[in-house]
Amino acid sequence: MSYSIPRGTYDILPKDSYRWQALKAKFTELAKAFGYEEITTPIFEVSDLFERSSGESSDVVQKEMYRFTDKKGRSFALRPEGTAPVVRAYVEHNMASSGNNKLWYWGPMFRYDRPQAGRYRQFYQYGLEFIGSDNPYWDAELISFLWLFLSGLGLKHLRLELNSVGCPNCSQDYDNALRAYFQPHLESLCPDCQKRYETKPRRLLDCKVTTCKQIAGSAPSQLDYLDEPCRDHFAAAKSYLDKLSIPYTINPKIVRGLDYYTNTAFEIVYEGIGAQNSLAGGGRYNGLIEQIGGKPTPAIGFAGGIERLLIALENEGISLGESPGTDLYLIPMGEQARDFILPWINRWRMEGITIGFDPDKSSFKSQLKAANNSQARFAAIIGEDELAQESVMLKDMQSGEQSLIKLSELVSTLKTKLNH
Ligand code: HAM
Repeated sequence: MSYSIPRGTYDILPKDSYRWQALKAKFTELAKAFGYEEITTPIFEVSDLFERSSGESSDVVQKEMYRFTDKKGRSFALRPEGTAPVVRAYVEHNMASSGNNKLWYWGPMFRYDRPQAGRYRQFYQYGLEFIGSDNPYWDAELISFLWLFLSGLGLKHLRLELNSVGCPNCSQDYDNALRAYFQPHLESLCPDCQKRYETKPRRLLDCKVTTCKQIAGSAPSQLDYLDEPCRDHFAAAKSYLDKLSIPYTINPKIVRGLDYYTNTAFEIVYEGIGAQNSLAGGGRYNGLIEQIGGKPTPAIGFAGGIERLLIALENEGISLGESPGTDLYLIPMGEQARDFILPWINRWRMEGITIGFDPDKSSFKSQLKAANNSQARFAAIIGEDELAQESVMLKDMQSGEQSLIKLSELVSTLKTKLNH
């Protein structure tokens, strides 16, 4: 019997883990500089949380959510996204009172979709949520974080696309305008769009079916239907982005796939990696916190997919995070030398030295080969002479240089040589 990994998932093998670690380190470092704190929520939540928040018209909830029933018959879902859980935690822990309103997260999300390059059933998202103010400055600050994070990695082919999806007040007029526009074309629309026509007509704007796309081409623009407060908010957010020198293009067709958005909506698109070219996306969700039982509180956030980011980095030949390698490979010559060295090994490791040692290899030749294979910077050879002097022969594996070092001085010598 042999097993293989579920479709749409993947293993992160050790050779790839360094890239993931480096990416996460860069993300967390920048998040810290912007004053964001980490929040971790469970992988599953009651399914109602997503149904109520992410929405009845969203494919993510209607078609792609992994639901399951527990032994007591309660309905749970593997989280398809991170915003609703973060908001649930914010309300549940009354975080408004503790002032923790700049939150970042990183973790796996789950969507049952047709897997393809850049689209998985288990994928990882990094994200920020800023909760508690409607000031458009925060829209620009959060978007600038995302832009700086991605461009700071060295990516060049990025495009920030910006839109405003308005508020419940003005979006109704817009929905009516869209229904009037699409009405004569109803029969030519795909079955999904025919349903969306009733529930959320703006979702017709991002349908991927060619006929729907063609029809949507000349649909009215949300930006022409914004009421005055929404227009002012959008103008101010853009002006802050200009002041922060963040380049953007306006795309009135950005509707976002989840239902909770209000006002500013944005995506970062990366050209050249196929159909799944949205590296990250987000927007305001001023009604969500109230919707799930909190006090009315404005908020904005974004999330990005790590897999697509890695594809984009590879596309531009940007490498990150090398294997740290072995600092020191131990080569005891014979049983006596090995027993002599054993008590020291973990002591040195506890001092932060990465040590290679393999008692299954006994000859000098095989141990030296293992040291080379592990790309160790130094080897410590312990023969009869070294044993007698409580020392090792430290060999620099790059220059070949050798020197006799007392065991008690080995760590400090190595730290100096390795610049630890
Ligand atoms: P989203 O646009 O559904 O937004 O997802 C954000 C990002 O996650 C996408 O731009 C993409 O990079 C990645 N992504 C989505 N689905 C997949 C998939 N199946 N495979 C690989 N990557 C994927 C949200 O999830 C919102 N919670 C963002 C947000 C935060 N809005 C406000 N706060």
